[in-house]
Amino acid sequence: MARHVIRTKNFAADAADFILDEAHKALGERNEFRIALSGGNTPVPIYSRLAVIGHDLPWELTRITFGDERCVPPDDRQSNFRMARETLLGPAAVPEKSILRMRGEIDPQVAAQEYQDQLDLMATQRGEPIYRHDLILLGLGDDGHTASLFPGTVALDETIRRVAANFVPKLDAWRLTFTFPLIDHARHVCFLVGAAKNASLIERILEGDPQFPASRVNPSAGDVTWILGE
Ligand code: 6PG
Repeated sequence: MARHVIRTKNFAADAADFILDEAHKALGERNEFRIALSGGNTPVPIYSRLAVIGHDLPWELTRITFGDERCVPPDDRQSNFRMARETLLGPAAVPEKSILRMRGEIDPQVAAQEYQDQLDLMATQRGEPIYRHDLILLGLGDDGHTASLFPGTVALDETIRRVAANFVPKLDAWRLTFTFPLIDHARHVCFLVGAAKNASLIERILEGDPQFPASRVNPSAGDVTWILGE
């Protein structure tokens, strides 16, 4: 695993450029771009920028998945899908067939299984044991969580399932999330971390402090890039 750390004062623009570069690389090599979107607030300006600079991208050749989702309907203000639809999927006119939405509005266990089955089908169609994303975008929580892999939660210990329903006591809420087995199967993982995030937390994670879930992302046959806003 190669790791790159990019510190930038042009966070949204540089992150969007990075994603577009990854898209062109994947499309050039395999005529497909499989990207998992991260949620929360950090990606909002990045996705908006990507919708502009990527308007000529052949979105019909992309497969857009979600690294995690809140267990809410897709039009809920908390929904990661809603955020992505408003910033990227709508403005870039991404075709429905390119989008694989986690159904946060149904029973979490059922939704996790359904999503895992969909990823497994796509993997099988491509002759892969586990679906291999070209790029998985990840955020970073103030407690060192990433996706919805929060400290002290059950999904952290998942070694088989690729998608899990994860109860998060601190939120008193269920989440749907990629697990480490799926994340670590990616060709490239990119953490997008804005300037407001705690610098010492970031440094401790970069040093590999295992108490933080983000430290445990380790794609054995892939790269990890950290894009840090300054
Ligand atoms: C989510 C995210 C989560 C997020 C971090 C950072 O569903 O909330 O996937 O992992 O990336 O919590 O969130 P902010 O970008 O809002 O700081």
